[in-house]
Amino acid sequence: MEQASWVPASVDLDRPSTARMYDYYLGGSHNFAVDREAAKAVEHVFPGMSGAARSLRTFLRRSVRYLLDQGIDQFLDLGSGIPTVGNVHEIAQAANPAARVVYVDIEPVAVAHSTAILSANPLATAIQADLRDPASVLENEDVRRLLDFDRPIGVLMVAVLHFVPDSDDPHGAIARYRDALVPGSFLAISHATVEGVQVDAEQDTARVQDVYKRTESPLIFRDRAEVAKLFDGFEVVEPGVVPLSEWRRDSDDAYTSAYVGVGRKV
Ligand SMILES: C[S@@+](CC[C@H](N)C(=O)[O-])C[C@H]1O[C@@H](n2cnc3c(N)ncnc32)[C@H](O)[C@@H]1O
Repeated sequence: MEQASWVPASVDLDRPSTARMYDYYLGGSHNFAVDREAAKAVEHVFPGMSGAARSLRTFLRRSVRYLLDQGIDQFLDLGSGIPTVGNVHEIAQAANPAARVVYVDIEPVAVAHSTAILSANPLATAIQADLRDPASVLENEDVRRLLDFDRPIGVLMVAVLHFVPDSDDPHGAIARYRDALVPGSFLAISHATVEGVQVDAEQDTARVQDVYKRTESPLIFRDRAEVAKLFDGFEVVEPGVVPLSEWRRDSDDAYTSAYVGVGRKV
């Protein structure tokens, strides 16, 4: 098994991670043989996976630009992943050089790589934490140092909540983040779905879920009503919780196997 210099000691090289599989789908180089094997098993069932990952990234870009247009200049990116092109701090600081970003991920490679590329950026950082434990995020000293909770913040949960089953109480966690935010703050969510897939695709869906069972983050799908429920306490902005391609579309991207939305705390 390869062991590059950027590999943190805490990484389990025998178990695939969703962060590194996602990096593989996006054409990145921060993944290991075990991740590539799992990612290829997903692609075998669902050859569109790389395209899906790229489509999900378009929502990240579109939602960050939307929040910037609403005057948001601080971002808390929960489940931020391994940096790739078009990271939140790049989009935000291109529009507003004073924008502040804290990346949060549970996976050590994602955090190590993020920290490395942000070393010369005093207004952005990355921390390792579990979003299911809001206190560990909200009380983190870097989070408190960089983000001003007396002003609106954009919280991003992009392509991550489908790794948080109801048994882990995503609603309770989101409520904790919501309660820490002032009105005028926002929450952006994208979430994988199989609502509307053909019956003969159900077996393929189960096979994809079987691959993710090898990771620490089993993949779960939610329908539109379930994704809308994640916005409890937020006012969902137009066009509502919709398939990814219908949300303030700025390209010919037609991917629909994810529901997305942005909510405003009122
Ligand atoms: C599919 S990637 C999405 C990355 C990024 N948000 C994007 O849109 O490109 C999901 C990320 O969520 C992270 N993740 C999964 N469960 C998490 C948790 N409980 N707390 C923090 N991060 C988590 C994974 O490590 C992975 O980096």
